[in-house]
Amino acid sequence: VKPLRAAVVGLGRVGLLFDLDERRRGVWTHVGAYSRLSEEFDLVAVCDPDAERRALALARRPGLRAFDTLEDLLAEEPLDVVSICTPPEAHAQQVAAAAPYVRGIMCEKPLSSDAAEGEDAAAACAEAGVLLVVNYYKRFEAAVREAKRLLSDGAVGTLHSAVAIYSGGLDAVGSHAIDLVGFLVGELSLLCAAEDQSGTILRFGDGGSAHVIATSPAEDLVFEVDLLGSEGRIRILDNCARLELSRFEASERYGGYRELVPVPVAKLEPVDPFLASFLELAVALAGDGDGLRSDAAAALKTQRVLDLLRPHVSHR
Ligand SMILES: NC(=O)c1ccc[n+]([C@@H]2O[C@H](COP(=O)([O-])OP(=O)(O)OC[C@H]3O[C@@H](n4cnc5c(N)ncnc54)[C@H](O)[C@@H]3O)[C@@H](O)[C@H]2O)c1
Repeated sequence: VKPLRAAVVGLGRVGLLFDLDERRRGVWTHVGAYSRLSEEFDLVAVCDPDAERRALALARRPGLRAFDTLEDLLAEEPLDVVSICTPPEAHAQQVAAAAPYVRGIMCEKPLSSDAAEGEDAAAACAEAGVLLVVNYYKRFEAAVREAKRLLSDGAVGTLHSAVAIYSGGLDAVGSHAIDLVGFLVGELSLLCAAEDQSGTILRFGDGGSAHVIATSPAEDLVFEVDLLGSEGRIRILDNCARLELSRFEASERYGGYRELVPVPVAKLEPVDPFLASFLELAVALAGDGDGLRSDAAAALKTQRVLDLLRPHVSHR
């Protein structure tokens, strides 16, 4: 099978620059993902109005064609897939503009500035028969996959609450937190959001409550999800690198009560969540696989919750 011709629009941190960070292991950019997955993709072009960024990309991948506008890229380069790695307010319009020219779009999160724009972009993709992925790559983390499996096996019974703690801005890591809670517990609706911008309470299922708490600045990385059910608890810890499971058992200290007791869990399979997200798109475009884990419909649900929070939560 011929590799899919791919281009990256927006050569900032997630488009290109994160992979220049020597401390990072694995692949964290779209240029890096297409380059690594060379059987599935052929990275042919990049696009950014910033000439320095284009030069950096060419230094890393000589032979690419570099464009300064999306319009020129789409007009001049036949593509199967395009990545949209521009600031959120540009996403919806660029997704809609690209839809008639490609078969798949990998859009950075969040999908759009608001749900109305996101719906227009999703509709343009549906009309053109284009697969739209929104790169909520945390859905692919090993601890998240394991949590999802444990939940569907009933390992912790019926979920009563979820608590997510994240550092950074709402459109940045906050959108991952909202997206991941929705992915794990199901559809969310707003109960209340703190006026002092410290957090929000959402409803799910039959009376479940999800608390999403914003903490320290983005540089002090915290990302945790704590899921409590009728039979036990799952905690996703250490920025999704670790998972803990415990179950309620009859207390030896208090008559008539149960307490949480740790249960050993298998070692998590190492995965590169960023690559997994791209690989799933390639598989789906080949007509295989079980669909997309982070498709337009899922991203729109997250976007509708983000809309509810926007008047309350700052973009730190
Ligand atoms: N998946 C993740 O974990 C993750 C991590 C970081 C950022 N992001 C998301 O990726 C997106 C970009 O974030 P970033 O931090 O890389 O931003 P950035 O500011 O570092 O880079 C944005 C780039 O887009 C370029 N650009 C702006 N307008 C453009 C246009 N019209 N056409 C082409 N290029 C244009 C800019 O010149 C810049 O190089 C945001 O939506 C952000 O939320 C996701």
